[in-house]
Amino acid sequence: MEKKTSERKRLTRSAASSPKDQGKEKRHRSLRQLTIAIDGPSGAGKSTVAKSLAKRLGCVYIDTGAMYRSLGLKVKERGISPEDELTLQRLALSLHIRFVTKGEQTRVFCQGEDVTEAIRTPEMSRLASSISKQKGVREAMVEMQREMGREGGVVLEGRDIGTVVFPDADVKFYLDAESSERIRRRYDELVEKGVKVDLEETREELLQRDYNDTHRVHSPLKKATDAVFIDSTRRSVEEVVEEMVRVVKERVH
Ligand code: DC
Repeated sequence: MEKKTSERKRLTRSAASSPKDQGKEKRHRSLRQLTIAIDGPSGAGKSTVAKSLAKRLGCVYIDTGAMYRSLGLKVKERGISPEDELTLQRLALSLHIRFVTKGEQTRVFCQGEDVTEAIRTPEMSRLASSISKQKGVREAMVEMQREMGREGGVVLEGRDIGTVVFPDADVKFYLDAESSERIRRRYDELVEKGVKVDLEETREELLQRDYNDTHRVHSPLKKATDAVFIDSTRRSVEEVVEEMVRVVKERVH
């Protein structure tokens, strides 16, 4: 993940001595230094809006779901059992994942290999959801995500960003939409990528993942108490991003 020098400046959160000072510090921080968390279920539109929001604010976009998917791909390639927690954790700790954004496109590299398309299949969706329930896997991923966002200037999207990865993020969003619309979006996305699926299969996969991701023991998907809830049903990407930019500016300036 590459950052401009201006974005490399360390944030000075710990320098503020009182909550009042911290408030001042937050207000005076430039938009491109922020840590923004976007959580929510599959198909809520997180990736599209997170990418667009990051571009608007001059931040780096981090797709944490792609990290669990990349691990899933390696698990499959190496024939590892999704239940073998120790081996999964070791593998997760050894992974080197990089995001390279050029224009509108963000490509995902795992161990130097471009896995952008390979991780988007329904099989990888299921596998990512399944292995993400393991405590050891989550610990390794959270560590990697904190390291990636350590310097601020990031928009991270996932399931546990505002609750676990960055509980003190500057701004948190919880993005949701009616399940029928989320299923349709996921289906259209897969068809557009040339993946052969039917609507019923997509529906089952998405609802099963909703269930897995919200019912697992470790870091289940839930709205952080201080997250701003946004319903993206029947709303365009532009509308949602506009609302987010408004909230960010209100909170920070
Ligand atoms: O966002 P996505 O559909 O690419 O995520 C794939 C799976 O990865 C998701 O079903 C659950 C898991 N995941 C997670 O547990 N925590 C995250 N922060 C992101 C994704």
